[in-house]
Amino acid sequence: MLELKHLSARYDTVSGYVNAVDDVNLTIKRNEIFGIAGESGCGKSTLLKVMYDLIQFPLEIFRGEVSLECRNKDGSITVCHSGEIHKSWWQLISYIPQGAMHVMNPVTRVRNQFFDTVSKYHKRRSKREMEADIVQYLRELELPADVLGAYPHQLSGGMRQRVLIALATFLSPEIVLADEPTTALDVVVQRGILTMLKRTQKRLGNSMVIVSHDMGVHYQITDRLGIMYAGKLIEAGPTMDIFERPSHPYTRMLIAALPRLGDSSQKEGIPGTPPSLRNPPPGCRFAERCPEAAEHCRTAEPLNYQVGKDHGASCHLLDGKVPLSEDEGGQAHG
Ligand SMILES: Nc1ncnc2c1ncn2[C@@H]1O[C@H](COP(=O)(O)OP(=O)(O)OP(=O)(O)O)[C@@H](O)[C@H]1O
Ligand SMILES: [Mg+2]
Repeated sequence: MLELKHLSARYDTVSGYVNAVDDVNLTIKRNEIFGIAGESGCGKSTLLKVMYDLIQFPLEIFRGEVSLECRNKDGSITVCHSGEIHKSWWQLISYIPQGAMHVMNPVTRVRNQFFDTVSKYHKRRSKREMEADIVQYLRELELPADVLGAYPHQLSGGMRQRVLIALATFLSPEIVLADEPTTALDVVVQRGILTMLKRTQKRLGNSMVIVSHDMGVHYQITDRLGIMYAGKLIEAGPTMDIFERPSHPYTRMLIAALPRLGDSSQKEGIPGTPPSLRNPPPGCRFAERCPEAAEHCRTAEPLNYQVGKDHGASCHLLDGKVPLSEDEGGQAHG
């Protein structure tokens, strides 16, 4: 459905390039929820912007390719790339940005935000017809129709997020990208939003990419998961497999930091900080913080090894296992 090959993207700033996404290979399949995890500043939002073709200065793609399969009216498929994908926004691919609570137009009622989006694609429909469709859709998502008359500030944070999900999925896009859709919401509201996302995905039978720094969110909702560290995708595979058999020390530490029911032991954060993305170190980027690092970890970049079915991780501790080919999601080497 959506494929990234050797994708590198950076920000061109006055003090040099920030290499936010570095040589990422990734395939999002049809009918799955793919999660992207990793700590603050590791490049999750940048990766999503690149997928969405939201490339604005200072962001630039400087290597690699993004391909999105577009289904034509006659059922045939064409593949579009960066620079073309934006022509299919809302209809084929939609995006809920981070901090989405603040991205709705504060002086426009929800109804008009829907009209603005829908009228671009259904030019001949009258407002009355559009409103009937929107109300019907809101009902299907168990949202009250009176949200249409509200301004964004009149809605609670959770309701605003639900409205945005409804807006992003109204035209039945084949892929929805959601950046931290539950951050800043309390756990009860968070659970409701996750249920809504999952239900919507099942209903549309489409793909979703969900970015969250919260591993608990991924455990609850995603089918496959990618872990980012300092601009690199360091592990990817089926979510349950990653939780049961995390293969990169960083993934193991992220999972160990999760609170568990009945476990009152003190949870430790991961000591240290990620390296600068302006001038990333050679070798494995996690080496400085890795309790298992050996000398060569600081000099040689690890290959991406197969550690399970459809599960790969980039770590020298896995030397001896079979490296994944690029088509299987391997990182670029050699
Ligand atoms: N407009 C920008 N100009 C320069 N650098 C930027 C810009 N936006 C992001 N960056 C830098 O790019 C890197 C990746 O940022 P990104 O927002 O993708 O991270 P993130 O994983 O989404 O973080 P968070 O979890 O905090 O949302 C960070 O070092 C960030 O400071
Ligand atoms: Mg972000």
